[in-house]
This record gives sequence, structure tokens and C-alpha cells, in this order.
Amino acid sequence: MNCTAFVVARDDLKQGKIIETDLPDTSRLPDEALLVKVDRFAFTANNITYAVLGDQLRYWSLFPAPNGFGNIPVWGFGEVIASRHPMVSVGERLFGYFPMATHLVIEAADVSKRGLRDAAPHRQGVAPVYNAYARVSADAAYAGRQGDEQALLRPLFMLSFLVDDFLAENEFFGSRSVVLSSASSKTAFGLAHLLHSRGGIRVIGLTSAANADYVASLGCYHEVITYDRVSALPNDVPVAFVDMAGNSELRARLHHHFGDQMKYSGRIGLTHRASAPDEPPLPGAKPTWFFAPDQIRRRAKEWGPGGIEKRFSAAWTGFAPNLEKWLTIVEGHGLGAVQQVYLDTLSGRIPPDQGHMLSLHEG
Ligand SMILES: NC(=O)c1ccc[n+]([C@@H]2O[C@H](COP(=O)([O-])OP(=O)(O)OC[C@H]3O[C@@H](n4cnc5c(N)ncnc54)[C@H](OP(=O)(O)O)[C@@H]3O)[C@@H](O)[C@H]2O)c1
Repeated sequence: MNCTAFVVARDDLKQGKIIETDLPDTSRLPDEALLVKVDRFAFTANNITYAVLGDQLRYWSLFPAPNGFGNIPVWGFGEVIASRHPMVSVGERLFGYFPMATHLVIEAADVSKRGLRDAAPHRQGVAPVYNAYARVSADAAYAGRQGDEQALLRPLFMLSFLVDDFLAENEFFGSRSVVLSSASSKTAFGLAHLLHSRGGIRVIGLTSAANADYVASLGCYHEVITYDRVSALPNDVPVAFVDMAGNSELRARLHHHFGDQMKYSGRIGLTHRASAPDEPPLPGAKPTWFFAPDQIRRRAKEWGPGGIEKRFSAAWTGFAPNLEKWLTIVEGHGLGAVQQVYLDTLSGRIPPDQGHMLSLHEG
């Protein structure tokens, strides 16, 4: 049996190709290893950002690919089809970080009732979340449409949750308005939902003309402005800016427009892939990367064991019911579908109301 993987050229993300490798003979799997069939995975602009930052943040080291190529990590579901671990059975369903491939060998470690970890040496040195798998066979929240919503949004909503918490903790840096770029992105509308639910904070979404109607229809932004109209925003009140777009030209325009009223400028994403390597100093608060692991570490200490999970679950419970109306799940099976969704996501051609669930197995 073969493993099929989709890999991309690290220095030219438009170039993708399929590679085939032999699957290990299951009788020769190392002790405690699992052979997992990668069933279905979510694909959004976030995965493109993993590729853009592949070298810098070591995403390329997670799932090795031939020289010059990288396998982009994706969030999704796998089924254990062979197990050399006494506590993990064939047929088990896992949720976690997978390669864009049909199969993955996991060196199972720290197996508990709820999850396990891949201890493969090449996967170490990244945040623990990237090597953790949840055992979800018996969990209805990870099945069917709900499961797809988890794969598409849960990892993104964790960031939304952490930024909302960080802004509130800092009393919104003295502002009562938060401006979000790439407002149509899932990470942005998750954050907009949380900010809007607080009350008393004005949530302003910046987006492209093509996505403005969708963003307005969500109901979690008080105001929606297209990128060409940002200078129409009143600039005599303090604002906090949360940037998912990573567009240097837009950031400069906003900072010059708001001047000293720009009280916070947090860099989160790179959806536009238009970041200049060296940006000149800008008026207002200095743009800084929001580093999620720092916020997690601090809150884990302050809130104690389970504190983050409890609060995050409550936030998810308030958010998830919206997804039925905000998102259409689109399934794609096989090499052609995966390649097409990859290229469409890379070039920003995916309508924001779509959430793509893919599989390299033919449907
Ligand atoms: N730092 C972290 O830990 C962290 C965690 C989660 C997410 N993020 C980042 O947040 C960003 C959003 O991710 P997501 O998965 O939520 O995105 P998504 O839902 O797939 O976002 C799609 C939107 O991004 C914009 N876009 C995407 N590709 C584009 C292109 N090629 N050209 C121009 N615009 C494009 C468009 O929005 P507009 O028209 O509205 O601009 C589009 O509607 C990503 O960069 C992701 O890496 C960071």
C-alpha cells in the first residue's frame, strides 16, 4: 500500500506536486507506533500562513518532504488502521495536526483516556499543541457537521479567544473601538463575535469589496468598511487594531490616519501576504506580534489547571451555534479537489462563507 502526499515548493507556493511513498509493513511498525489513515482535514488561509512561516516557525519540520518541498500541516481527523500500542485500538478516531497526505505514522506517547502525543524526534521543538491528538471516537461533538466545524474553526477560535482576553485584560488600551482587518476570515469573525458579545466595545471590520456584504451579514461587526475607505473612519477617538491581513500598505495607512489615537496594533495573520520585510516606524502604538503561547502560559498560571479549557469551552458554546448560518461546509475528495482548493485558497478565491473539508482519498 502507498501513502499519497501533496507537497509544495517552499520557495514558490504556487508549485505543488503529489508524491507517493511506500507505507510501512504493519507487522514491522516500531513498538508503540500507530499507522493512521488521514480521513478528512480543514483547509483555510491559516494553513497558507503555516507555509509562509514554514522555515521561521519550524512548521516544515513536522511532516518531512523531499528536498526543497514542504508538507503543509492541517487540522483534521484520522483513523488508526494499525496499532503497536497496547492502549490504542484499531478503529480509533483521532483529532489533531496531520500532513496533507493519506497516512501518517505516529509514535504514540503519553497515552491517556483523552489523548496522546506523537513523540517522533523530528516533531519536537514546536509548541506541544502541534503534537497532541485528542481521542474522539466516542465524542459526538467531533462527529458529522459539528466535527467539521471543530476542524475548521476550533484552532482559529482559540486565537480569537486569547486576543479577546488579552485586549480585555489590558482594558482595550484605553480605547472602546477595535478595528479588525480581513474581517471576513474565520479567526477575525470569531474575535468579532467575542468582542461584540461583551457590549460596550465598537467592532469595526475592514474587508475587501467582494466580501463586505458577507461581513455585514454576520451581525457581529457594528461597522464594515472596505479597504479603500479606511480614511473615512473617525480618527478623533482611540482605537485598537488587530491585524489578520498582514498588509504593510494598509497598516501604514491606518497608523497615519489614526496617529496617536492608535493605542494598540497587534499582528496576528498574513492573509494578504503583502508584508514588507522592513516597515518604517509608524505613528501611534508600535505594531507587535501577538504571541499566543505567552498568553496561554500566563493564563494557565493565573487560572490554574483546566482554567483555560473551561473558559474556552464556554466561549465556544456561545460561538458555535452561529456557524450553521455563517458557514457552508464544502467537501472535496481526491488529488484534483485538494490541489484546486489549495490554489484557490492561496490566491484568495475561496468565498468566506465556505469551509473546505478535504481528503486525499477518492470519495
Ligand atoms: N498567530 C496565530 O497564532 C494565528 C492563529 C489563527 C489564525 N491566524 C491567522 O489569521 C489569518 C486568518 O486565518 P483564517 O484561517 O481565519 O482565514 P480564512 O477564514 O481562510 O480567511 C479568508 C479571508 O482572508 C482574506 N484572504 C485570504 N487569502 C487572500 C489572498 N490571497 N489575497 C487577499 N486576501 C486574502 C480574505 O479576507 P478579506 O477580503 O476580508 O481581507 C478572505 O476572505 C491567517 O493569516 C492565520 O494564519 C494566526
